[in-house]
Amino acid sequence: MTTPSELLELATRIAVTTGDLIARRRAEGVRVAASKSSLEDVVTDADREAETLIRSLIAEARPEDGFLGEESGAEAGTSGLTWVVDPIDGTVNYLYGIRQYAVSIAVVEGEPEPETWRALAGVVVNPAADEVFAASVGGGATLNGLPIRVAPPVDLSQALVGTGFGYLAERRVEQAKVLVGLVAQVRDIRRQGSAALDLCAVATGRLNAYFERGLKPWDHAAGGLIAAEAGARVSGRGGASASSEFLVAAEPSVAAALESVLDEPGN
Ligand code: IPD
Ligand code: CA
Repeated sequence: MTTPSELLELATRIAVTTGDLIARRRAEGVRVAASKSSLEDVVTDADREAETLIRSLIAEARPEDGFLGEESGAEAGTSGLTWVVDPIDGTVNYLYGIRQYAVSIAVVEGEPEPETWRALAGVVVNPAADEVFAASVGGGATLNGLPIRVAPPVDLSQALVGTGFGYLAERRVEQAKVLVGLVAQVRDIRRQGSAALDLCAVATGRLNAYFERGLKPWDHAAGGLIAAEAGARVSGRGGASASSEFLVAAEPSVAAALESVLDEPGN
């Protein structure tokens, strides 16, 4: 049987190799290859090339495992494990040369659905910052090999809160309205453009909390485990599992306070 830390070792090797590739491609120049759910939701050649590389390295090392990737879809395996992959999280940052983008790779057990899966290993690599965030279940979380921890409890009024927006205009309008209700009740809001790195920011105490509606499984599979292993509560609404519907990640008392504000009518 392969242990979570062995899976993490392989995931990390693949993510670091892919991080080098996308940083190289970024330096060469990036162009939009196509748009997806809306004109704003773009894919670059580098996203596709990176996912092809990740997929082939996983298939070579672990042919029996399943795969779920942002750009190339799902393929069931026979081992009960699935690799959940976002080749470039923060694609719009990547397109603009903003250095907040990452390769995100997780290995999950069970059906590859966030409500029920058990994440075993997760790695998020930001090649532009030379940062490798990693965690295996029960093994704690690290940044470049050193243990990381969420920020200590704070009053919500002192919390720096990250969030994000979806790509569809109607969803964004709803998300912006929620921020109108929240912004006066927290220290400030950040929209950094990569859900995976937002979750890692919670794990290192760079953000007190992060929440978003409408994430895809590959946006939060690795970062969610990293935040949880660093001491965050990572969940959906009212104690449900994190899902495409909603995810909040923070030190547990901050998560509870944030959730109660988000539960107020109109939010
Ligand atoms: C997006 C980023 C963004 C978040 C969006 C995601 P992509 O992923 O993580 O921060 O707000 O919900 O779709 O498109 O850059 O891979
Ligand atoms: Ca993403």
